[in-house]
Amino acid sequence: MRSSIILASVLGALTVLAAPTSPSLNLNSALPGQAETVTEYFNMLAQKVQEGRSMAVAPVCDLSKAKMAIAPTPLPVPAEGLKLKHVAIGRGTQNYTCDVTNATAVPAQTGAVATLFNASCVAATYPDLLNMLPKLAMSFNLTEVEQKMGPSNLAISGQHFFTNTTTPFFNLDTTRATLGEAGCTKANATSAPANAPKGQLGEPAVPWLKLVTHVGATGNLQEVYRIETAGGSAPATCKGMPATFEVQYSAQYWFFEGTAA
Ligand SMILES: *[C@@H]1O[C@H](CO)[C@@H](O)[C@H](O)[C@H]1NC(C)=O
Ligand SMILES: *[C@@H]1O[C@H](CO)[C@@H](O)[C@H](O)[C@H]1NC(C)=O
Ligand SMILES: *[C@@H]1O[C@H](CO)[C@@H](O)[C@H](O)[C@H]1NC(C)=O
Ligand SMILES: *[C@@H]1O[C@H](CO)[C@@H](O)[C@H](O)[C@H]1NC(C)=O
Ligand SMILES: *[C@@H]1O[C@H](CO)[C@@H](O)[C@H](O)[C@H]1NC(C)=O
Ligand SMILES: *[C@@H]1O[C@H](CO)[C@@H](O)[C@H](O)[C@H]1NC(C)=O
Repeated sequence: MRSSIILASVLGALTVLAAPTSPSLNLNSALPGQAETVTEYFNMLAQKVQEGRSMAVAPVCDLSKAKMAIAPTPLPVPAEGLKLKHVAIGRGTQNYTCDVTNATAVPAQTGAVATLFNASCVAATYPDLLNMLPKLAMSFNLTEVEQKMGPSNLAISGQHFFTNTTTPFFNLDTTRATLGEAGCTKANATSAPANAPKGQLGEPAVPWLKLVTHVGATGNLQEVYRIETAGGSAPATCKGMPATFEVQYSAQYWFFEGTAA
């Protein structure tokens, strides 16, 4: 398939991995505008390849060039003195519980489980492409994805899960790199923009968050942002919902390290 050859050549240059085999696209899912997303995505990649031909050198991964854009939202900026350490695309589920005896009860969040894919070099090189990745990632089913995020060959850079219902945890220690691990507390939250990508069944995007790490975090990890979310929200009430359920989501995660000034 021509488009995946283009994809492999672009992302391959960034991630230094073997050529990927593409999982099938979920083109018939209920995601509105999905075909448009995939087309947009491949068009953009084709354009990047074109631009790449006129570059004197291969794209260089320099995190100081990556800029987190939280401007349209009221999330506080990272503490002064912190430095960007890693950017990942998370793809997984938000988990909820419901009181099945009460149709007006509100679903409670019990956690999330996601695979983190290394998007640091994309963030440094192609920020416009980066911002399409959560939406694109929603086009592929989790089980299918396994070790891959759709047809991209972005490497896995970690895992995200909860250690209890209020403690999101990030483990960035893999065989490829050891960047640290951290339990976190929510420091601030703001609704995703109204035009944020919806989930596979049209679920609204989960809020954008600022998290701060707990004492005991390794790798000098201090703050984690969840932005550019896609899907993941529970319905407004428990009406017709089972006692436990999951909602597919994707997001960008930005990790900051250092010592706050
Ligand atoms: C993705 O999962 C949904 C729900 O389980 C299923 O209906 C759909 O066929 C799957 N799509 C692909 C491409 O596997
Ligand atoms: C979140 O940050 C905004 C501005 O940065 C601030 O006005 C608001 O009070 C903060 N909310 C919480 C819960 O800290
Ligand atoms: C059902 O949930 C609503 C919303 O949380 C709450 O106000 C109400 O008291 C609950 N009813 C029962 C019977 O628990
Ligand atoms: C969330 O869903 C995942 C995937 O099914 C499951 O492995 C995990 O145990 C669930 N976590 C919680 C906290 O319910
Ligand atoms: C992400 O990819 C870059 C470039 O290949 C690499 O330097 C970095 O160690 C990777 N990070 C993780 C957490 O795997
Ligand atoms: C969850 O874990 C955190 C950190 O270990 C702890 O401070 C908090 O009390 C725990 N909360 C619950 C409800 O167990």
